[in-house]
Amino acid sequence: MKQDMIVILDLGSENNSALAREIRALGVYSEIYPHDITAKQLAAIPNVKGVILNGGPNNVIDGVKIDVAAEIYGASVPVVALDHATDKCPAIKESDLRSFVFDTCKADANWNMQNFIDDQVELLRKQIGDKKVLLALSGGVDSSVVAALLIKAIGKQLVCVHVNHGLLRKGEPEQVVRVFREELGATLIYSDSVDRFLDKLAGVSDPEKKRKIIGAEFIRVFEEEARKLDGIDFLAQGTIYPDIVESGTKTNKIVKSHHNVGGLPDDLKFELVEPLKYLFKDEVRACGKALGLPDDMVYRQPFPGPGLGVRCLGAITRDRLEAVRESDAILREEFAKAGLQGKVWQYFTLIPDVKSVGVRDNARSFEWPVIIRAVNTVDAMTATIEHVDWNVLDKIVKRIITEVKGVNRVCFDMTPKPTGTIEWE
Ligand code: XMP
Repeated sequence: MKQDMIVILDLGSENNSALAREIRALGVYSEIYPHDITAKQLAAIPNVKGVILNGGPNNVIDGVKIDVAAEIYGASVPVVALDHATDKCPAIKESDLRSFVFDTCKADANWNMQNFIDDQVELLRKQIGDKKVLLALSGGVDSSVVAALLIKAIGKQLVCVHVNHGLLRKGEPEQVVRVFREELGATLIYSDSVDRFLDKLAGVSDPEKKRKIIGAEFIRVFEEEARKLDGIDFLAQGTIYPDIVESGTKTNKIVKSHHNVGGLPDDLKFELVEPLKYLFKDEVRACGKALGLPDDMVYRQPFPGPGLGVRCLGAITRDRLEAVRESDAILREEFAKAGLQGKVWQYFTLIPDVKSVGVRDNARSFEWPVIIRAVNTVDAMTATIEHVDWNVLDKIVKRIITEVKGVNRVCFDMTPKPTGTIEWE
């Protein structure tokens, strides 16, 4: 391992992630561990240069105030408490972090993507040996970066499965095949499951049922592909650090349970490979960029797992789904031309299951409206509306009503979250 590390021990703080990010921003790697880590476990972590005890409001478990094991205070590296002085070790202020890391711990600022990639390649080769690894490659940021990293580490021993469920954005399945199979030389199984998904979804209008069908069918297709393959020992997943931190630590109750390809049947048990599990999202992007992935893959805006399925409201029909896909492509193209790509957090179109009367070529029309959503947020819990320039909107409206079949009207959703969620379903 090339990188020095500062260990954060979670003594009930609410800002463990923020602190880890702050230390990483200084160029020094940092990881968060639970308060009950043993001195032996701590000593087994490579390149630890210092330990910060991060106390906070969640420091009582079952009525007992928590502390680290007594031997941790006697560790061979500097141990301090952040902002909370104790009689067992000195405290530092957050403003003294830099001096602690560099002067007291003598850590080197050697946390960078190239070192991370070198370390991971070495670790992955050691873990996997000459065995094979399976990966569900959706084309999202996390699974794409995992794929690129594994291709670098083990090449053809990685088998990627891309399930096209027909609910991806325009050009995405093609891009996955082009980038991974043609440019990076990956073994990629492309499963064209469009009919299968759309047949299963036909006539289903309840949003929760639609989501469940898409999720369950995805697992079934992936499982079928996995069963066709021989000699796979590992399953790679794009788990990232916030997935782990937000899934609940010992002092912090579960915020949100995360799973990627959960739900595979018991007889299909693989050992997990999760090379991004210590990275924050911006670091995952930097890693993808360093591995040569294209910008529009690495800086992709968030996209829900059920894809366009939750933007073709109510029961999905092929013609309306196509209209969602085409209008979304136009919106993205025009936002990019207007310099809004990467500036607006998320923007997309959706089409409700309702038609309105209009007029086209001097005749009555009865067609769908397209609704545009463009929002900004930090954590997706609340969101505000992007004030899109009228000239940009004007251009988008003109293109959608002339280029997208079956659409005679365009609306802009002005609702912040709350009360509206970002998606409509
Ligand atoms: P809402 O609609 O809840 O969305 O305001 C918040 C953010 O989450 C995305 N989203 C999903 N992401 N699987 C995902 O991976 C899903 O099922 C899902 N549903 C919503 C949404 O696009 C927005 O960014």
